Amino acid sequence: MTSGVDMQRSATAEICSNRDDWSFHVTSDPLTRYLRDRRLRTALHMLRVRGLLQPAGQSVLVVCGGVGGEGVFLSRCGFTDVTVSDLSEEALEVCRSLEPHIRTMPLNAENMAEIPDASYDLVLVQDGLHHLPRPVLGFTEMLRVARKAVIVIEPHEGLVGRLIGTEWERQGEFVNYVFRWNRSLVNQATRSYLLCPQAVVLLRRLWDHNLAVGKVAGRFPQRWRLAAAKAVYQALRPVNRLGNMMVAVVVKSDGDTTPRSGR
Ligand SMILES: C[S@@+](CC[C@H](N)C(=O)[O-])C[C@H]1O[C@@H](n2cnc3c(N)ncnc32)[C@H](O)[C@@H]1O
Repeated sequence: MTSGVDMQRSATAEICSNRDDWSFHVTSDPLTRYLRDRRLRTALHMLRVRGLLQPAGQSVLVVCGGVGGEGVFLSRCGFTDVTVSDLSEEALEVCRSLEPHIRTMPLNAENMAEIPDASYDLVLVQDGLHHLPRPVLGFTEMLRVARKAVIVIEPHEGLVGRLIGTEWERQGEFVNYVFRWNRSLVNQATRSYLLCPQAVVLLRRLWDHNLAVGKVAGRFPQRWRLAAAKAVYQALRPVNRLGNMMVAVVVKSDGDTTPRSGR
């Protein structure tokens, strides 16, 4: 039987060989930037309000980073020590072509044994854990290698996701189950792994439907498109607590960064 990890490696290699335009990761088009960076900006804001954001002095590891969208974003926000990791060498090659100064590292998110405990200030994943056969294992590996905080941007469990969300993502012959998180899951996985009562779980739920919102905005004249996209998400704000997506920040422990050994 082909493992889920091998399937993902092949699926990403196929995507990378079929697609040659990745410019949406580096474009400065305001609408594209707004739609793509919104969740990442939310995460940085959550760190900032807790006094945990110092881009120039913090190292970041991006897990399941694909061709480097999050890495490019973080570099442009002033982070100078950014490492993008992914299972796929093909994806990392595209990443290096998009942003040559970003460090890349082939890495299986479920087993980062080559990385010592508490090696990076921040460890971030966006739309990656739900590609793993064992998402919670990927999450606890992130907790292990992070010094200060872990950022997880993934689908949130809920009625709307169950009714109209994608349950199985298919890429040709390859498939993965869309694992959806909630506060209780993040909390329990954090506490059972860290064994640390001080660990703080911050979680925001929000709506994220970039394709649909991009289509709506695209109906407007160019100069109104960004405002239209912002208006859609603004209108959804009162019902963000039902949103299909979560931005979770797990602060390992305010102040105490003692590495935990034992996996
Ligand atoms: C949907 S893409 C997301 C990429 C990027 N985070 C983004 O949003 O543009 C999922 C990525 O997870 C990677 N991936 C899947 N399984 C993995 C694993 N076990 N370890 C590391 N990366 C993995 C895939 O190669 C792919 O690049």
